[in-house]
Amino acid sequence: MPLPDTRPARIAPAEGPLTVFLPGLGAVATTFVAGVELIRRGHAEPVGALTQLATIRLGQRGERRSPRIRDVIPLAGLEDLRFAAWDPIPDDAATAARKAGVLEPRHLDEVAGALAGLVPMPAAFDPRWVTRLDGPNVKRDATMRDVAEALRADIRDTMARHGSARAVMIWCGSTEAFVAPTAAHQSLAAFEAAMSVNDPAIAPSMLYAWAALMEGVPYANGAPNLSVDIPALEALAEARGVPVAGKDFKTGQTWMKTAIAPAIKARMLGLTGWYSTNILGNRDGEVLDDPASFKTKETSKLSVLHTVLQPELYPQLYGDFAHVVRINYYPPRGDNKEGWDNIDITGWLGYPMQIKVNFLCRDSILAAPIVLDLALFLDFAARAGLGGMQEWLSFYFKSPMAPAGLTPEHDLFIQQAKLKNTIRFLIGEEQVTHLGTEYAP
Ligand SMILES: NC(=O)c1ccc[n+]([C@@H]2O[C@H](COP(=O)([O-])OP(=O)(O)OC[C@H]3O[C@@H](n4cnc5c(N)ncnc54)[C@H](O)[C@@H]3O)[C@@H](O)[C@H]2O)c1
Repeated sequence: MPLPDTRPARIAPAEGPLTVFLPGLGAVATTFVAGVELIRRGHAEPVGALTQLATIRLGQRGERRSPRIRDVIPLAGLEDLRFAAWDPIPDDAATAARKAGVLEPRHLDEVAGALAGLVPMPAAFDPRWVTRLDGPNVKRDATMRDVAEALRADIRDTMARHGSARAVMIWCGSTEAFVAPTAAHQSLAAFEAAMSVNDPAIAPSMLYAWAALMEGVPYANGAPNLSVDIPALEALAEARGVPVAGKDFKTGQTWMKTAIAPAIKARMLGLTGWYSTNILGNRDGEVLDDPASFKTKETSKLSVLHTVLQPELYPQLYGDFAHVVRINYYPPRGDNKEGWDNIDITGWLGYPMQIKVNFLCRDSILAAPIVLDLALFLDFAARAGLGGMQEWLSFYFKSPMAPAGLTPEHDLFIQQAKLKNTIRFLIGEEQVTHLGTEYAP
């Protein structure tokens, strides 16, 4: 949904607890929860979270006003967050975090008590969608509709237990098998009818998204599977005025890609090829070793370059480049992914050059602050009256949602400007144009 023409007259304050629902209590979700627990005890810094650290320039340059974002918009405080999760694997968050092997014992031990208290609720899960996984902690209701209603009951019960009037849901579950949208996804009526007859085109992540929207809970999708990104659920989000965002957290290689590609294009240099490969040894890597789940991820990763480089405008520079993306499951690396990019570019008179990127990153360490930012910004969006698709949060996604007929914005720096300008708009501050008219004669 586009932003309203006028800014909201009032943005409700962030009062009381905010429940963060996490379908999927694996590496990313546990790293996020453990991190929040550590940070709110003052034992770590919220590195990587714009909601905690980023400033925003307001007014003209000479005014030197650069408050923190969190000081100009009402965001929930870390002390007000409460957590709930679903997972087919019944491990509590302490056990799941230890198995994920992301955080060191010195960190996990400090918050072990809090993590042990986070026990996943039985999941809406179907191993046909994630063939490399199975687990016993699963809802066994007869129809998908019943399962989705049970998720709604979980949401209501948990919020009552937490004393929360507000909640958000961030999908941190495994990447589901690729599915092209079918008739069942096209309208809410078709979707709800399909749930009642157990239509195989309805993925578990869609049941969570439906349940969240029906309960007025904003939903973000951190994985590349469709989930809320279908017309039926977009229409539901619009109709109910509930914010949604997705999809696929932009963490490592794609984050780099959407920073480097705009730099190549800004200089009007050409591109003949971009080869990206990764080795990854966590459970996500294992799930992505299945061709059906990898296809979903590949589709998400491949979409980026064309929209940044706009070959239709620059056929001589970007009309014919090769783009290959590979992910190899390699257990010794665990969550510490290594990515290599070989970028073949061309300069003046077509002379070839190469850029090599070797990124030794930590997947969940990059993803956790994104979960935090999305939780806080989605809750803010709901209080600011912004329903439907939240394009201003494209910054966080490999494959951002965009209104029908429009290409999504992938350029990291345009995404950042969009995020900050949306905040300026919502609080009634001038847009920053970088014209420099304040000092030009
Ligand atoms: N870490 C990153 O940098 C990154 C970046 C982009 C996207 N992602 C996506 O985020 C998701 C989580 O990544 P991760 O590393 O934590 O994976 P993970 O395998 O450690 O955790 C995923 C968890 O989801 C659970 N799950 C699967 N289906 C479920 C369902 N229907 N309901 C509830 N739980 C379910 C699994 O049992 C598992 O515990 C993946 O889809 C991944 O592709 C991660």
